[in-house]
Amino acid sequence: MKIKRRLKAIANMVEPTKVIADIGTDHGYIPAYLVEKGIVDRGIAADVSRGSLAKAQDLIRAMGLEDRIETRLGDGLSVLKVGEANSIVIAGMGGILISQILEKDKQIGQAVDSLVLQPMTASRELRQWLSENNYSITKEDLVKEGKKIYELILAIPGNWQIENDIHLEIGKNLIKEKHPLLKEHISGKITKIRAIIAGLDQARQDGIESRLNDYRERLAQYMEVYNDL
Ligand SMILES: C[S@@+](CC[C@H](N)C(=O)[O-])C[C@H]1O[C@@H](n2cnc3c(N)ncnc32)[C@H](O)[C@@H]1O
Repeated sequence: MKIKRRLKAIANMVEPTKVIADIGTDHGYIPAYLVEKGIVDRGIAADVSRGSLAKAQDLIRAMGLEDRIETRLGDGLSVLKVGEANSIVIAGMGGILISQILEKDKQIGQAVDSLVLQPMTASRELRQWLSENNYSITKEDLVKEGKKIYELILAIPGNWQIENDIHLEIGKNLIKEKHPLLKEHISGKITKIRAIIAGLDQARQDGIESRLNDYRERLAQYMEVYNDL
């Protein structure tokens, strides 16, 4: 089965294991790919939307994988029992929604070997939540599909001491490895932060100074990493 680059990069982050749960599976491509390739033995494809789950069910039937991928309708991790999945994928949603899903059923999230997360937005907020809720980020990746660069995070239960605030913005290993997409990724972030600073500078309302300073500090951190690449 052929899947697009973003989905393939997500699947590549999953380490071979017994059971994977894909929360917000929609089309069901991730569990279908992982089971078909033999990376996982079984999959649980879950979604809160009946329509999305129907798409996954069609794919699973078409691939003859009904005995290896179970579909479940429901909100977030509530479809799982504690310890049932070795690894959980939550991809293609905003970082805040991902952290809310994890927050609702903490015991289930803490019982896995790993979480593979792919936030479409608010990756800083997601990393912050992970750091405050006993998850350690052990790996990150970037993938480009079309014009967009996507961030991928692998987290495992365990304490994470953040050595530098910039690691809430950019994965530590991406900086260390000088990931080939990092320069382009950071340059996009720098452009956005500069636009925010220019907007705040013009607004000049009360209390804006501390927000401006936060963004200026963030810009300086990004510039430092960028100049080292
Ligand atoms: C944009 S799709 C992403 C599909 C797939 N994970 C991907 O990365 O391509 C988001 C999916 O998440 C589902 N979803 C949103 N909130 C959810 C929740 N709280 N629990 C389970 N699924 C949810 C939506 O119904 C939708 O099918």
